[in-house]
Amino acid sequence: MTKTNDRGRDCDHPHADLLDHYSFIIASNRGPVTLNLEGGELEYQRGGGGLVTALTALANQIEAAWFASAMSETDRQWGAGQVPLGDDSSIQVKFVDVDEAAYNRYYNVISNPLLWFLQHSMWDYVHAPTLTRETWEAWEKGYVTVNQQFADAIAQQIKRNARPSIVMLQDYHLYLAPAMIHKRIRSRKKYLLTHFVHIPFPGPDDWEVLPEPMRTAILEGLCQVDLLGFQTRNHALNFIRSCENFVPKARVNYRLGRVILRHHATYARDFPISIDPNGLRVQAATEEVELYRQLLQEQTGDLRLILRIDRTEPSKNIVRGFQAYEEMLELHPEHCGQVQFLAIMVPSRLEVEEYQTYLDEIMAAAGRVNARYGTSEWEPVRVLVGESYPRAIAAMQLYDVLLVNPIADGMNLVAKEGPVVNQHDGVLVLSERAGASQQLGDHALLIAPCDVYATAQALHQALTMPGEERRQRAASLRQAVEEADIERWFCWQLDEVERLIQLRRDPSGKAAASDEKGSRW
Ligand code: G6P
Repeated sequence: MTKTNDRGRDCDHPHADLLDHYSFIIASNRGPVTLNLEGGELEYQRGGGGLVTALTALANQIEAAWFASAMSETDRQWGAGQVPLGDDSSIQVKFVDVDEAAYNRYYNVISNPLLWFLQHSMWDYVHAPTLTRETWEAWEKGYVTVNQQFADAIAQQIKRNARPSIVMLQDYHLYLAPAMIHKRIRSRKKYLLTHFVHIPFPGPDDWEVLPEPMRTAILEGLCQVDLLGFQTRNHALNFIRSCENFVPKARVNYRLGRVILRHHATYARDFPISIDPNGLRVQAATEEVELYRQLLQEQTGDLRLILRIDRTEPSKNIVRGFQAYEEMLELHPEHCGQVQFLAIMVPSRLEVEEYQTYLDEIMAAAGRVNARYGTSEWEPVRVLVGESYPRAIAAMQLYDVLLVNPIADGMNLVAKEGPVVNQHDGVLVLSERAGASQQLGDHALLIAPCDVYATAQALHQALTMPGEERRQRAASLRQAVEEADIERWFCWQLDEVERLIQLRRDPSGKAAASDEKGSRW
């Protein structure tokens, strides 16, 4: 089927040429699968998180080599090869054999406690962050080291590829890799670099908290990217603002969405990421999902269902979600015994202290609601901990209300998956600080994530909404997701990549003219 994107371009055909003449390289910290050796048999378990959900859907449409960190001994020994993606397709995965100690510093000291917290505005500045000698050591012998290892592996692959390469780097783990790749291969004829930031990108006031050498390495490193993608336009503008503030030699142009540093242009754009609705529906129709659905249905009985599905992640604001539910039960006791809040929690980053503490806080908050309101017949909150995508899909089919209330979130793909598979005209209660609110806000009940009272009211409004309004909102949500699916996300990037290739070939030609008009931005 031929698709057109919202810039009016035909999506499949115009890029066929690009897909034929370039080799694609994807690089992300987490790969599409984790390998487990079970009784001598290799098992593939789907990696968690939004990035993997989105890229897996994309990866089975293109031929690409996907570089990811080896996270276990099995990954290390296996090295590289084709891995099945669960729907008759497969992708070539190449694990970057990172030293365990370096990986620990890169992931558990810099990427998550520092960069993730900074970019999600999660610090209470009186107490955090506190950068110590250990942080600096982790930067130099962890974050820098792992980025170098990725850059080495990618540069080798670019050299090996017979065709020029389009390198699609992903996320905050790999901010230094672009400059390092350029250092290894000076001629840009062999490759074009894109980098997509999946999480919020704050402005200069937040980046200012990071010491100057780290901040400069990150921002100048990103200035080696050709096409820098963000989830929202505001995040893209924040990047330009940050360069203007902290990279004195950078020349920024807001109208064109462009930063020039040492004769190299980086274009900042927003490409809201999405899901593959068809692929998701295929998975939703499997027997495994059906079995989970029956089980969940039996357990829920006649109760209305409020659902949330999240990694056990402080930015997801899970505790305030329970507080809001508790407040709703207090304000509207008529819901007691009529509703259940099902929280599906996927354990995440438990080596990081804040995440361990937060998991305890989640369990305590859920326990408090149950202790206060539960009866021998009614369990107000049910928490299921563990990773099972089929179970998550089954739960999404059944909710009456889906609560997505992060303090900050790049996009949030649960907000997009839910409406596609839900069978109950479920209402989405959505944080205005989730990237998804840009596209779905009109059809959801929007809340300020710190406002527990407003969230309680929104939950009540969702549970009592007339059927016709529910139907309309659910249909509009579904349509909005289907109109901007993961293929679109990819197409938007390829549109820009093509334009940049033309611009390189003919700096004063048509692409330059459209650049000057700023027509795409
Ligand atoms: C979010 C981020 C991704 C990250 C994922 C899982 O979705 O945007 O970049 O991959 O969380 O995080 P993890 O640390 O478990 O890989």
